[in-house]
Amino acid sequence: MESQHPSLDRRRFLALGAAAHALAASKVGAQEHEAARDRPTLVGSANALPGMKQVWESFAAGGDLLDTILSVVKVAEADPKDHSVGLGGLPDEDGHVTLDAAIMHGPTHNSGAVGCIENILHPCEVARLVMERTDHCLLVGPGAYRFARAHGHPHTELLTDEARAIWMAWKERMSDRDDRLAPAQDDKDGRLYDLHGEKVSLDALIKDRAVTGTIHCSGLSTRGEVACTTTTSGLSFKIPGRVGDSPIVGAGLYCDQEAGSAGATGRGEAAILANTSFAIVELLRQGKAPVDAGLEVLRRVARQAARAAKWQAALVDEEGKPAFGLTLYILGLDGTTAGVTLRGHGRYAVSDTQGGPRLADLVPLYE
Ligand code: GLY
Repeated sequence: MESQHPSLDRRRFLALGAAAHALAASKVGAQEHEAARDRPTLVGSANALPGMKQVWESFAAGGDLLDTILSVVKVAEADPKDHSVGLGGLPDEDGHVTLDAAIMHGPTHNSGAVGCIENILHPCEVARLVMERTDHCLLVGPGAYRFARAHGHPHTELLTDEARAIWMAWKERMSDRDDRLAPAQDDKDGRLYDLHGEKVSLDALIKDRAVTGTIHCSGLSTRGEVACTTTTSGLSFKIPGRVGDSPIVGAGLYCDQEAGSAGATGRGEAAILANTSFAIVELLRQGKAPVDAGLEVLRRVARQAARAAKWQAALVDEEGKPAFGLTLYILGLDGTTAGVTLRGHGRYAVSDTQGGPRLADLVPLYE
């Protein structure tokens, strides 16, 4: 008899465990995407490069796809100097570090995510647990934390001294109409801080409220499987409870075993409103090259920002172009990659059999 509860069917499926997973993956590799075999490729944000360097050799030799992409982003999650992700991430306006993360797996077309989770060092691993050990796609807040603890993740203080000092510097500079005063000598030592793999001043960190941090990694395995993950501490000094695009399937990441994979870093609200990663993968499905798919979606984002500027003028500059940052990472089933960005001359991380782990130039929509 057919089950009245869809999750019962899914539980039965899950119970098949690794064997079903392997069978699904091998079928995909053997029947649908022969051309992608033996073209292992990783693509992601620039801060994914250190992680890619650690995993590349074993991945290129046939290593597990999900283990690999998680290992890549876990390096940034555990790095206290990266103020955009995990430990050392910049907190919300109340000083709480809240994390968003997601993972998606092409061969089983499944995903898992956590939003606004606190005190867990590796939210990307919790996202995988949501995908593999629950009937759900997204857990948030205290429920996500308890779920992580129940699976053995330790409670970890994520607010480092440095991130706390940056947060307090932001609070002290927010207004000259409150009682907080910035120390006279602060930021005069020229010290630089890591953000998105780049060095920025304290002043830039706290002044630029458009600063959003994230790490994304998409992968194509030697068996022709695609998967992706995105993890972040989100918009710095955000309103408590804010969740960005990173744990939203279709926005901060998306993959489809029939088309490819994509992810986003930058202004999460723009990625959510344009459903950027899903839109890119749909364009890949229609036969677009990764760079063309990415630029087409950025043009769409720019048009949407111009309309949204009718109620939020700060979204565009004096020329009517987006005043925020958004960068997209794209992986085709044949191993071709692209990184595109709204403006500027940034870099993204890529690793393939042609060159191993390296940085490549982003293609900007606007110079
Ligand atoms: N893209 C990261 C965020 O907006 O939270």
